[in-house]
Amino acid sequence: MTETVRTRVAIVGAGPAGLMLAHLLASDGIESVVIDRRSRDEIEHTIRAGILEQATVELLETTGASSRVRTVGTRHDGIELRFAGEGHRIDFAGLTGRGVWLYPQHEVLKDLLEVRLAAGQDIRFGVTALRVEDPDSARPRVIASDAAGRPVTIEADFVVGADGSHSAVRQSVSGSHAGYFREYPFAWFGILCEAPPSSEELIYSNSPHGFALVSQRSASVQRMYLQCDPELDPESMSEREIWDQLQLRVDGHTLAEGPIFQRDVLRFRSFVAHELVTGRTALIGDAAHTVPPTGAKGMNLAIADVVLLHRALAALLHAHDVRPLESFTTVALERIWMAQHFSWWMTSMLHTAPDASDFDRRRQEGELRAVVGSESARRFLAECYTGWPFTTEL
Ligand code: DHB
Repeated sequence: MTETVRTRVAIVGAGPAGLMLAHLLASDGIESVVIDRRSRDEIEHTIRAGILEQATVELLETTGASSRVRTVGTRHDGIELRFAGEGHRIDFAGLTGRGVWLYPQHEVLKDLLEVRLAAGQDIRFGVTALRVEDPDSARPRVIASDAAGRPVTIEADFVVGADGSHSAVRQSVSGSHAGYFREYPFAWFGILCEAPPSSEELIYSNSPHGFALVSQRSASVQRMYLQCDPELDPESMSEREIWDQLQLRVDGHTLAEGPIFQRDVLRFRSFVAHELVTGRTALIGDAAHTVPPTGAKGMNLAIADVVLLHRALAALLHAHDVRPLESFTTVALERIWMAQHFSWWMTSMLHTAPDASDFDRRRQEGELRAVVGSESARRFLAECYTGWPFTTEL
């Protein structure tokens, strides 16, 4: 027997976008059901990026979504760009008056899940969305199956696909390839290690051996990334080889080494869906767009989508006003393409393409020198990194 659930907004995906949307809708008295194919434990323990823009932090705080972000997270007022064996600080606070926070995504998810579950939010783990039926009607439905394979149907006034880059909602409403797409000939090999911080701020390092990023997690756990071949088997490198590669790529800066306890390979892709709204269905977060990780825009962009979609849904569901929803795609895409540009720029400026010629390498060093040598260019980078103000007008 199919279980049928009736709600106002069916949200597919309990990541930052889906949970934050449920949270904002609840503050307007709009009920929603969130489903995710993963277990709560998997959601709370999958390692993702760690940087929050100031506007994201302010939203998490003012809406009561996270009380820990300022106490457990760390404010960063700048980053280091390294190339040709020298570091150059980009002083975010001095250039923009703004900063970012290092607070890992899974911590944001723990906070959101705790707050939403305490408020009685219907969140169904282990429930896989298969397709959306009648997305153009006033009664769209999510057809899903639970962990035991039993069918579940969620009938709603509106369906939101916040179900990541392989979005079943997107595939159902617009086909899997309906978007702008770019692939990169490299990936990141990410590690977590037990060691003291190697630097107080993040180091983005360009080197002839490839890119490296030195990030942090806590006083005793660090996160670092190495540019690698997308096909690299993360188990194929010894700990010694990893440390030697990292050390080589942050030329002139000594890293504190320690046991590596987690390894993963992150693919690099840029994607923007052609359509974000189909009838009574919308796509947000990675379901709508993917950015390469350099510059840490992914989760922040998802939260910016949520702020806009929340406005549009409140107007639609409270006042039957469809105009904000009609503007949603145009307005959201402006920021999405700005973030696409920044992520692409940081990626191309800092990585070494496998087929890079001597000309390409020297030009790249010229670009880096021009950026660190110009206050205007440093300010541009700082503005993009710390994030543009959220748009709420539709
Ligand atoms: C981290 C990830 C990023 O993509 C980035 O640009 C900075 C930091 C991180 O996981 O710490």
